[in-house]
Amino acid sequence: MQTQVISTLSNPEAGTVLAAELIRRGELVAFPTETVYGLGANGLDAAAVEKIFEVKGRPSDNPLILHLSKKSEARALWDGMPRAAQPLMDAFWPGPLTLVYRRSARVPDTVTAGLATVALRIPQNKTARALIAKAGVPIAAPSANLSGRPSPTDAAHVRADLDGKIPLILDGGSCRVGVESTVLELTAKPTILRPGGITREMLEAAIGPVRTADSVLAPMPEGETPRSPGMQYRHYAPACRVHVVTGAPDRAANRILALARQEEARGNACHIAATEQTKGRYRGWPHTVMGDRTRPATLCVGLFAMLREIDADVIFAEGVPPDDAGLAYMNRLLRASGFSVEEA
Ligand code: TXA
Ligand code: MG
Repeated sequence: MQTQVISTLSNPEAGTVLAAELIRRGELVAFPTETVYGLGANGLDAAAVEKIFEVKGRPSDNPLILHLSKKSEARALWDGMPRAAQPLMDAFWPGPLTLVYRRSARVPDTVTAGLATVALRIPQNKTARALIAKAGVPIAAPSANLSGRPSPTDAAHVRADLDGKIPLILDGGSCRVGVESTVLELTAKPTILRPGGITREMLEAAIGPVRTADSVLAPMPEGETPRSPGMQYRHYAPACRVHVVTGAPDRAANRILALARQEEARGNACHIAATEQTKGRYRGWPHTVMGDRTRPATLCVGLFAMLREIDADVIFAEGVPPDDAGLAYMNRLLRASGFSVEEA
């Protein structure tokens, strides 16, 4: 299959008529969102949704998010509305927040992987919204990467994983947030299943106390059933080893330099994921400045691109405190490392 790429940079609606037609015909289309690129299918067409699992190599027990263009569409897909939903939708939709609640009978089983709940979100990206509105159906879309690889934050990443496997990629340039949406479960006490662009502090300002699932910063214990099936898989894996060092910036930098010297002596190429606060410590070493520790959202933006693009044997990454957007950064970094982490 030939994969066509249409740029939406000068016109956010470019290609969305064709894309919507493909979606209605049961085909797959990759499109930009403010978080990461999505791989979309008609969310009410079980056969189309099956294609997503095939193309990504995604385990069939990992459910998908339905993307909407209007808040009113949530009512037909959920079975009733939890009390917290309206204030959350008003504060954060469109935006990087996914809400999970009991599903209605309209939602195909393949979307929810058999769960009693369905995840919904309205993305902020203009191209994504135009596509969903023109398709006239909810669009089921996971991140547009092969299963296990880092999520794509620009169209070249999508091409690297899916070229020849899907008919169309809408190229909207780099994603603004860089990590996937926050997933918040609302069937019981509001619980963050996956941290993201909308932080716990922001959610609590809208609805009061919010829990964070234990699995956000820990590996799933063997044999336990996770509330969000996506959390059990090795994720965001780059081609090389990743090791994370937490602790005060100065101590972390010292430890990383010591480890990097050891690896270099063994003939291994190292790369360091640094911060604005520590970059001066790594002069002479290949490094990427991920962002500013005092504004953790900045660290998230380039994380997946770094994991995809760095050609080294090992990446040493500074950990940051899991506050604010630091929680999303650590959640992705720890999974990319397979939980190879130490405190300096
Ligand atoms: O930002 C995003 O959310 C991107 C863009 C494309 O919208 N999408 C995305 O989808 O990251 P995906 O499939 O890569 O991740 C969806 C996550 C998975 O961890 C999945 O297990 C969880 O959401 N999820 C989906 N439906 C769920 C449900 N009913 N209950 C619990 N977790 C659910
Ligand atoms: Mg994903």
